[in-house]
Amino acid sequence: MILSKDFLKKRILIVGSNGMLGQRLTEYYLRNEKVELLASSAEDESFIKEVEYRKIDITNKDEVKKLINDFYPDVIINAAAYTNVDGCETNKELAWNINVNGVANLAHYAWTCDAHIVHISSDYVFDGENGPYSETDRVHPISYYGRTKLASENTLKGSGVFATIIRTNVLYGPAKYGRPDFVKWVVNSLRENKTIRIVTDQINNPTYIDDLVSAISKIVEYKKEGLYHIGGKEFLSRFDFTIRIADFFELNKDLIVPIKTAELNQDAPRPLKSGLLTLKAEAELGYSPRELEETFLLMQKELNL
Ligand SMILES: NC(=O)c1ccc[n+]([C@@H]2O[C@H](COP(=O)([O-])OP(=O)(O)OC[C@H]3O[C@@H](n4cnc5c(N)ncnc54)[C@H](OP(=O)(O)O)[C@@H]3O)[C@@H](O)[C@H]2O)c1
Repeated sequence: MILSKDFLKKRILIVGSNGMLGQRLTEYYLRNEKVELLASSAEDESFIKEVEYRKIDITNKDEVKKLINDFYPDVIINAAAYTNVDGCETNKELAWNINVNGVANLAHYAWTCDAHIVHISSDYVFDGENGPYSETDRVHPISYYGRTKLASENTLKGSGVFATIIRTNVLYGPAKYGRPDFVKWVVNSLRENKTIRIVTDQINNPTYIDDLVSAISKIVEYKKEGLYHIGGKEFLSRFDFTIRIADFFELNKDLIVPIKTAELNQDAPRPLKSGLLTLKAEAELGYSPRELEETFLLMQKELNL
């Protein structure tokens, strides 16, 4: 058992700590002296070296049991998921195992130690016919990924555990490890003089990861239960988002080619008119997302972009 040196500290377990969101959460809580932190993810080692880390496969019930019973967390933040939207269409069993059964495993053992689970879901629970969406809007996923995320929400709701579900959309930000986020990909591609084809018919409010991290920290601090939508300040098409990135980083906009989603022939259909209304989070958490250009500036500084 990993014993706490200070029983007054909040014990937080981050699951999926090597992912794009997970690594920013890990960096955030590492700086908080009132938190005893354990990071866990699928890889052998943590990308962030300073943190106490355990390898975990959330689909393995025995591993989840051992991890949770050893650490006995007050809070479990689940940022682990099978996030490859097209991959979910062709690997349905794997997607369900990770995104639904994995969450059920976490919920089961969270219940045994009375921990608060904070779980990340997606705007893909909606069909994208008439977004942006509030927490009370009707769900209707059109992709298998969306179905697994909705099922993960229902699993938590039915588990009896103290749980918060956060739906977010199009994450971007200064994650340093793993695959590049959308902004970094656009910047790198345009700097390398590559043409990029970007859809004009997918509308979202892209979410700066650190805005999401701050919302999560408030949910943990205020012990908020239930459902929250967390998104960015502006609703715009992916094409317009890309133009704003190119403008800020002074890149060649002629390389950005507008296309329609249908032209991509992807395995999974995408919700087109989507985006998440954040009024509830603004009122209850004081959530206040940054301006797009401010987030680009922060990324530029932190990643030397
Ligand atoms: N990115 C977005 O735009 C977006 C939008 C809406 C909602 N979300 C949700 O936000 C959350 C975080 O997304 P993200 O973009 O940070 O995802 P990500 O970068 O793909 O990170 C997910 C992490 O979970 C790990 N993982 C996968 N299977 C696991 C397993 N069986 N056991 C333990 N860990 C496992 C992954 O490891 P491997 O890399 O080794 O597989 C990875 O480190 C997810 O719930 C996602 O559905 C994301």
